[in-house]
Amino acid sequence: MEIILEDFTKRFGDVTVIEKMNLKIREGEMLALLGPSGCGKSTTLFTICGIHRVDGGRVLFGEKDVSRVAAQQRNVGVVFQSYALYPHMSVFENIAFPLTVRKENKNTIREKVAEIAELVHIGELLERRPEQLSGGQQQRVALARALVRKPGILLLDEPLANLDAKLRLEMRSEIRRIQLETRISAVLVTHDQVEAMSMSDRIAIMKEGEILQVASPTEMYQQPVNDFVAGFLGNPPIAFLNALVQDGKIDVLNGKIQFDFPRNAKPSNSTKIRLGIRPEHYQPNNPIQIPGTISFVETQGRENLYDVKLEDGSILRSIQSSAFGTIEKNSQVSWGVQPDQLLIFDQAGNSI
Ligand SMILES: Nc1ncnc2c1ncn2[C@@H]1O[C@H](COP(=O)(O)OP(=O)(O)OP(=O)(O)O)[C@@H](O)[C@H]1O
Ligand SMILES: [Mg+2]
Repeated sequence: MEIILEDFTKRFGDVTVIEKMNLKIREGEMLALLGPSGCGKSTTLFTICGIHRVDGGRVLFGEKDVSRVAAQQRNVGVVFQSYALYPHMSVFENIAFPLTVRKENKNTIREKVAEIAELVHIGELLERRPEQLSGGQQQRVALARALVRKPGILLLDEPLANLDAKLRLEMRSEIRRIQLETRISAVLVTHDQVEAMSMSDRIAIMKEGEILQVASPTEMYQQPVNDFVAGFLGNPPIAFLNALVQDGKIDVLNGKIQFDFPRNAKPSNSTKIRLGIRPEHYQPNNPIQIPGTISFVETQGRENLYDVKLEDGSILRSIQSSAFGTIEKNSQVSWGVQPDQLLIFDQAGNSI
């Protein structure tokens, strides 16, 4: 089902947390709501599921305005960070709970629970109690409970936050598999860019109650609308370098390094800009060399991460395969960039 937020506004007391947000979640897609803590992700999710009422605007499921519809009537499955399984009930009873409440027929309940337990791969665990399950298994039970009523929409609020690194990796692909198999429209709230990029069809990135950009993970990574989005996506993160436009060229390090402005629309002379340089784009053998001194080395196994301090004090980052050895701290290097791979921002931080 399509979900539409139309001029959605939310206040807590006199504080307006979200003002006139517009967002459309397409039928069958997984959309990630990504942003830093406190930006309004959970507030948005709670409004979609009906825990919060809108203070302005509308929430539509397909054609239907559900702004005034109670949460229980919205047919939405929700999984929170704390799975909140009922400790005294078995896995079967936990999953069956939403159906038991509706007093569905016992045989029907058994069939539906079996079917959903199969989907989330916990068929053998139905007799256990939550305390006898690992974190990942509990998460699967919570997912099964959210899905057993065949909701039109699945909402996930930081569903992996309580899992350790290995389980998080496993559940990332499991949640995505289940979403793809059921083709349910889903919203994933996360502040983890890797999670957002790896699990979703599109990302909506939020800052202070506002959506800055909605795009596929690749498009957002390659064409961020501003420096905030560029900095939020990518690990290790992008580095920024001050530069100046002169005579259709870009000057860095006070004109020591000059190269043609790599876009058609050139800013006027003496415009200050910032270059965004991703670690995979600052590499040996690239045409425009920007020399510096290695100030930090981190070996990550397959790759090495280097910080390179330039003569003006700015830091560029480079990530390189460790197959050719590790370059030591304090070494002088003359690595470079390819102009067409640079991101370019104006003084306000918007992409040029
Ligand atoms: N019930 C409430 N009463 C008052 N203020 C609230 C309430 N719920 C949220 N807020 C405020 O609204 C803003 C957005 O909160 P929200 O929980 O949506 O953020 P979030 O993006 O989910 O953050 P996190 O990543 O930390 O979970 C915050 O400033 C928060 O303090
Ligand atoms: Mg939250």
